Amino acid sequence: ILYQEKNRPQFHFTTKRGWINDPNGLIFYEGEYHLFYQHNPYEREWENMSWGHAVSKDMIHWQELPTALSPDELGTMFSGSTVIDYQNTAGFNKGNTPAMVAAYTANAADKQTQCIAYSLDKGRTWTKYSGNPVIDSKAKWNSNDTRDPRIFWYKPGNHWVMVLNERDGHSIYNSKNLKEWTFESHTTGFWECPDLFELPVDCNKGKTKWVMYGASNTYMLGSFDGKKFVPESGKHYYVTGSIYAAQTFTNIPESDGRRIQLGWSRISHEGMPFNGMMLMPTELTLKTTKDGIRLFSEPVKETEQLFSSLNKWENLSAADANEKLKSYHDNDRLRIKTSIKLSHATSAGLSLNGQRLLDYDMNFNLVNGVFYSPQDMTSMEISADIYIDRTSIEVFIDGGAYSYSMERKTDPKNREGLHFWGTNIEVKGLEVYSVKSIWK
Ligand code: FRU
Repeated sequence: ILYQEKNRPQFHFTTKRGWINDPNGLIFYEGEYHLFYQHNPYEREWENMSWGHAVSKDMIHWQELPTALSPDELGTMFSGSTVIDYQNTAGFNKGNTPAMVAAYTANAADKQTQCIAYSLDKGRTWTKYSGNPVIDSKAKWNSNDTRDPRIFWYKPGNHWVMVLNERDGHSIYNSKNLKEWTFESHTTGFWECPDLFELPVDCNKGKTKWVMYGASNTYMLGSFDGKKFVPESGKHYYVTGSIYAAQTFTNIPESDGRRIQLGWSRISHEGMPFNGMMLMPTELTLKTTKDGIRLFSEPVKETEQLFSSLNKWENLSAADANEKLKSYHDNDRLRIKTSIKLSHATSAGLSLNGQRLLDYDMNFNLVNGVFYSPQDMTSMEISADIYIDRTSIEVFIDGGAYSYSMERKTDPKNREGLHFWGTNIEVKGLEVYSVKSIWK
């Protein structure tokens, strides 16, 4: 039976077989979320890059569909994005059916070029544009690493925008028809898989900032006029760890208005018929903090259906909390929400069979080795929402101000289980949830 292997993640997307890396072409259309992804349908290793395809009604339960884009004479299918061409700017629409248009990179031995393809059946089958490639940066700039076109409609200017990784940064191109593109500007300091979008600050639609990031998720905030991104702050990080090449969904209805992100986790799955996985979908927001405006990331509300609260405690000593957690030692998946208060400026946290899920060093302001300074620097408190699957762990600190993901790598000989550590800490809150499988 499918999806039942020992090391198959139970609440994260994986393919039935083969390799996956970057999410591609994330889009919501006609009630379906589409997840395309870098895929080798034949082997567990990175090779034969194609666009795999899965659809979902809630971003949680996915149905894998046949491969969407396969290699051709221009190259293998590298990362990219999709849009719906409601105004038929490219002329691919048929009757009342607008085309879903994909922009992707064709990766050949001598160069990488940008191409487009369209689908009239909700992403199931695709026709590649006969005029491909639409951008050849090797010919124009002699740029070698030129890939991962991120396209979207820029309403105020009535034109398409492409953000493209080339010449060691992100270039902006404009187009009226998705076929002819003009270079507009360039921002250095990013690498691979660009994204660029506008977000309200503190939920105030009257005050917005544009966010630009690259594959490693470091970002800059700034302004954008359709042609040029002008950074005002950064680079900052909001998420670190195994995550790479995250992309946000396009075409989310305005009535919803969320900016939802999905990232690839660079975790290998030894001995499994598949390799690699997607992390949980998260909502990105901008909030004013003591350090300025910052990006926050939290699991989307759709994930809530997976969790049932098993137990809840308040104000425990570490020893008492560890005693309570004993009955959960053998769970293959779990969600734990906790907040701890330190007795003095030292280190404390929570581990699972020796692996540090939370390691807060209050003296140097480090969380699992990365600089993080809570809003209230003297409260001595930190909160963590921890999602444990069979092969991965995701942790959201202080309501998504900072998050990280890692491979679940517990020492099989260490039977310590879930264990709070630190001198005289107070476990102010502790909640344990069971997690449903998305495959049943
Ligand atoms: C990022 C990346 C992209 C490229 C793709 C190839 O992980 O290197 O830049 O398009 O993977 O699979």
